Amino acid sequence: MMRTHEAGTIRAEHADTEVTIAGWVAARRDHGGVVFFDLRDASGVVQVVVDPEQITDDDVHHIGREWVLQIIGTVRPRPAGTVNADLPTGEVEVAARTLTVLNRAEPPPFPLSERGDDVDEVLRLKHRYLDLRRPSMQRNLRMRSTVNAALRTAMIDRGFVEIETPMLIASTPEGARDFVVPSRLSPGEFYALPQSPQLFKQLLMVGGLDRYFQIARCLRDEDLRGNRQFEFMQYDMEMSFAGQADVMEVVAAAVSTAVETVTGAPLGTIAEVTWAEAMERYGSDKPDTRFGMELTDLADAVAGTEFKAFHAAAVKGICVPGAADSSRSTLDGLVDRAKGLGAAGLVWMRVKAGNELESPIAKFLSESERSGIVTALGAAAGDLVLIVAGERRRTNAVLGALRLDLGRPPVSEGGLVPLWVVDFPLFEALTDDGRPIPAHHPFTQPHVDDFGLLGATGEALLEVRSQAYDLVINGWELGSGSVRIHQPELQAQIFSMLGIDDETAQARFGFLLEAFRYGAPPHAGFAFGVDRLVALLAGEESIREVIAFPKTQSGADPLTGAPSPIDATQLRELGLTVKPRPT
Ligand code: AMO
Repeated sequence: MMRTHEAGTIRAEHADTEVTIAGWVAARRDHGGVVFFDLRDASGVVQVVVDPEQITDDDVHHIGREWVLQIIGTVRPRPAGTVNADLPTGEVEVAARTLTVLNRAEPPPFPLSERGDDVDEVLRLKHRYLDLRRPSMQRNLRMRSTVNAALRTAMIDRGFVEIETPMLIASTPEGARDFVVPSRLSPGEFYALPQSPQLFKQLLMVGGLDRYFQIARCLRDEDLRGNRQFEFMQYDMEMSFAGQADVMEVVAAAVSTAVETVTGAPLGTIAEVTWAEAMERYGSDKPDTRFGMELTDLADAVAGTEFKAFHAAAVKGICVPGAADSSRSTLDGLVDRAKGLGAAGLVWMRVKAGNELESPIAKFLSESERSGIVTALGAAAGDLVLIVAGERRRTNAVLGALRLDLGRPPVSEGGLVPLWVVDFPLFEALTDDGRPIPAHHPFTQPHVDDFGLLGATGEALLEVRSQAYDLVINGWELGSGSVRIHQPELQAQIFSMLGIDDETAQARFGFLLEAFRYGAPPHAGFAFGVDRLVALLAGEESIREVIAFPKTQSGADPLTGAPSPIDATQLRELGLTVKPRPT
């Protein structure tokens, strides 16, 4: 037997028993006499005491960090005064009777401490197998496994069927660039890797599978950030004969089960806000509702003002508590930031004692306008007021971004605060020639009350709402879904509005349109990012901390060297030639 116990499980109750343990040297303290090792395995760490007088078969003093040892020894209480209350095994130590070196190790290129924040990420990823030994990575990956298991159980308990959809497919319209795979058997032709299982899950509904789910790998060639990777995992689901409320109920239950399994407490009621309200109050379609600083409409407070900059479609403000003492250079920085976000300018006001406003523009406002602003924002002495005036969407977006810059707590603070955002617009913008651009994918049902607006043109089209809904947690878009179009005529109408002509529609989605002619049931679904859920649960700002082998921000894998060139034979077989890189 390699071991009788796992290192991290040894407790005072094991005193006087002989144990065999095996693991890595996490730390060593060698003062010339007895040598102390912290021996680490997957379960944790225990202190081992080795007396070189008794153990002579190996030179104990040469054993370094991360060597792999097997120890047979007796558990004993630590001497008074040396108990380590921070360690679960801190009351005991193992006095070694034999020590076997199972493997030597070169000194690790960086310390394998609790967190790797102080180590260059490329170095961490180059030696990810070492980085994974750190407690936070161990905890995060184990948590991830727990979350996956809980999601599976929640769905199977509700009668959902787990079905794998293919990886080598034709393009899926999720709006990002495809990763493509050249075909050897059809040189010059390519598969796309799935941006999501979207089209297949809809086909499964036509196929009568009724309730589908999958924990699916998705691939999107997009710019990477803290919560975006090329490859990521989606909890993906679809239901037939069901609508928005049914999907929201199932998704909330699955997320709540996963949260409860990890934290011990369910997610609690999920508040709901319409997209329009979210934009007005938070300037974002994924509001972080863990803190206030809501956007306040100041139109009434400054109605009729002589200050020209406030003669705009929207005049809105936020109040930053306690920030009146911000320096002039900080305030100038905020003005630049607002301009960078597209605002014509930013008005700042320091709220002084007696609610007097100190601001370069204070003199242009009447006494009642000044007090109206303070009252509307609920500002008090010591606060900083920031005001933007301009076109409404832009004004909301600028203030929403400033609100996050100035108020957003770290992702780990305040627990998980979930929110449904419903009634998303069907179209997010218009192209230069006035065509609508879909806000979700083009299979999303318009809102039942807005079918009449589909005939409109221009800006009016942006008023059309959809049956699309997002789940947001702590300001991160966790997932999104929609009720799908299942009527071929409506689908054809939407394609034509989007400028997707019949030929293109046939070429790209012909198989789906054809399937819909054979009795597609009404259906709706959802998908959320498992990486994001685990990162939120682990209190990590970056999903890279919860993925075993992620890519760097620039899309590279420093461990395996991907992406890398392929050899000439492979290129020839695939019918590809690579142009030299432009210099
Ligand atoms: P959507 O495109 O909104 O919807 O994706 C759903 C969720 O997947 C996660 N996600 C990502 N996570 C990490 N890295 C990425 N690059 C990345 N891109 C997306 C997010 C996101 O909310 N088929 C639809 C869902 C549906 O309508 O059923 C879809 O894929 O958490």
